[in-house]
Amino acid sequence: MKDPVRIEIARPADAPAIAQMSRDLIEYSLPWSWQAPRVLRHVQRDESTVITSRWRGEFAGFAIMRFGVEEAHLDLLAVHSRLQRRGVGAAMLRWLEDSARVAGTSVVHLEVRETNHGGRAFYRRLGYRRVGRVPGYYCNREAALCLARDLWEGRDAQIAPAPRSSPWTALIAAPGFIPR
Ligand SMILES: CC(C)(COP(=O)(O)OP(=O)(O)OC[C@H]1O[C@@H](n2cnc3c(N)ncnc32)[C@H](O)[C@@H]1OP(=O)(O)O)[C@@H](O)C(=O)NCCC(=O)NCCS
Repeated sequence: MKDPVRIEIARPADAPAIAQMSRDLIEYSLPWSWQAPRVLRHVQRDESTVITSRWRGEFAGFAIMRFGVEEAHLDLLAVHSRLQRRGVGAAMLRWLEDSARVAGTSVVHLEVRETNHGGRAFYRRLGYRRVGRVPGYYCNREAALCLARDLWEGRDAQIAPAPRSSPWTALIAAPGFIPR
């Protein structure tokens, strides 16, 4: 059966919808820091990967990940309320993790609002563990929990990460590249 979730690299035209979702689903009751121009910069930067997802053709969500040499940082991830609990969030995160492995990345880091119990349950389910807590991280209003996942944990030690010099950016940005 055809997978109902489709993941694509975001285009500049997606920036306003992504920013709006960030405000509504992630930055609620906080100043809106991820407005369209900031999202657009990440869409256009080589160090960031911005993806969108569709559920049976309908725009469902997005995620933004920054890639460093050893580590990646998940900045944002959200799925429209009416399309949650269908595996869309998990599909986006796994897609980004697979891309990170291709890049030779070992660890994914992220922060989640302490009061975001749904988000915390989601990341826990997907293998993320608490590695810290930063009081007042969100505009002195709310603490962040710092989470991380070792991407090579439990994998065959024979499988080495790709060389650091691999042209992963071009690979994951190539049309039609969908890991797994
Ligand atoms: C967190 C979020 C991205 C999850 O996306 P999603 O598409 O609904 O998640 P999935 O369907 O892939 O869930 C995978 C598993 O995670 C867990 N999970 C997801 N949402 C959960 C919730 N609200 N409560 C408890 N467990 C949850 C479940 O185990 C779920 O599997 P199941 O549905 O078979 O039980 C989505 O709820 C969302 O956009 N929330 C608002 C924004 C946000 O909090 N983003 C994360 C912080 S930046």
